[in-house]
Amino acid sequence: MRLHRNLVGSFVFVCLSVLGNAQQPSLKDAYNGCFLVGAALNPAQFTGQDAEETAIVKAQFNTISPENVLEWGPIHPQPHTYNFGLADQYVEFGQQNHMFIVGHTLIWHNQTPKWVFQDEKGNPVSRKVLLKRMREHIKTVVGRYKGRINAWDVVNEVVDEDGTLRQTPWLKIIGPDYIEKAFEYAHKADPKAQLNYNDYNLENEAKRKGALELVRKLKTKGVHITGVGLQDHFSLDFATADQINATIEELGKLGMKVMITELDVDVLPSPFQDPTADVSVKVASNPKYNPYASGLPEAVQQQITNRWADLFRIYSSHCGVVTRVTLWGVSDKDSWKNDWPIRGRTNYPLLFDRNAQPKPALNAVIEAAPKKPS
Ligand code: XIL
Repeated sequence: MRLHRNLVGSFVFVCLSVLGNAQQPSLKDAYNGCFLVGAALNPAQFTGQDAEETAIVKAQFNTISPENVLEWGPIHPQPHTYNFGLADQYVEFGQQNHMFIVGHTLIWHNQTPKWVFQDEKGNPVSRKVLLKRMREHIKTVVGRYKGRINAWDVVNEVVDEDGTLRQTPWLKIIGPDYIEKAFEYAHKADPKAQLNYNDYNLENEAKRKGALELVRKLKTKGVHITGVGLQDHFSLDFATADQINATIEELGKLGMKVMITELDVDVLPSPFQDPTADVSVKVASNPKYNPYASGLPEAVQQQITNRWADLFRIYSSHCGVVTRVTLWGVSDKDSWKNDWPIRGRTNYPLLFDRNAQPKPALNAVIEAAPKKPS
């Protein structure tokens, strides 16, 4: 009997700690009516292999993004090879749980195999060949998930810090119209899917101006663009409330929906002078950049908690323009921020800790939600 009671007690404890306090609404419920709340998933989370994190995803989120499985590299590694296995499982997980499913990403300069841009001799292909490859890839991938993937990041990180178009093989080989072509092919493959441009650092004025200019041009040309995804890989002090508000407002004025697509809050010292989320940049390991390897001081935990609540207050002051807020991961243990830009650090960028337990910031975010009329 005693053993039985202990077992029941531990079961209730586990449920409460995984799913949050029974009285407390989940993230998705707290922001219901304002925006969807989501997370980027790795395969262990959508196949159920990591049962604890899968339970968090089901309890807390109503939209999901794939951390890697829909990128060109994993899904289309060779000219005639597509690996749909994991992407199919990702989409099935989202459908079974009635979630808004995001496709990330169709056209990017990173995580794209070299063969895409080269002929058999290793020379750059022509505009015509690259457009054909782009069309075939988009038609195949978007077509396969037509009506099931609800929104695509059609182009990722196409604007540079100074506001000009980023110099990528896509731009150099095809020319600036590669962006509208990508949207055109995606729209053709699934006319009902939401189609977005996704980028980081649009909170910085020069880059934002370039992004706004790009959106204006696309709209003038009649391109089917739904909105702009702000990655929002932030730190405790970047970006400021003014920068975030200005970015959302200016995009909103152009008729764009705004999605926060990759939110996390980096608490470790940055090796960079200016903030970046450029995954191709790598920095050598150095203990001075990893100060919290054996735990987080209470004062920093408090700063994190306040920062998260402030961010959600800002986003929810733009209900209607901001339609989705997605965190780039579920718990601190799996976050890419442990290995980028420096490998093997101990970072604390999400709302669940390394043991998949809710951090004080989770509660603070839920409490920061706009109060619903009772
Ligand atoms: C990251 C993933 O989280 C890592 O697993 C991967 O190794 C590198 O890319 N901008 C994006 C995301 O659009 O796809 C990146 O994700 C983070 C920066």
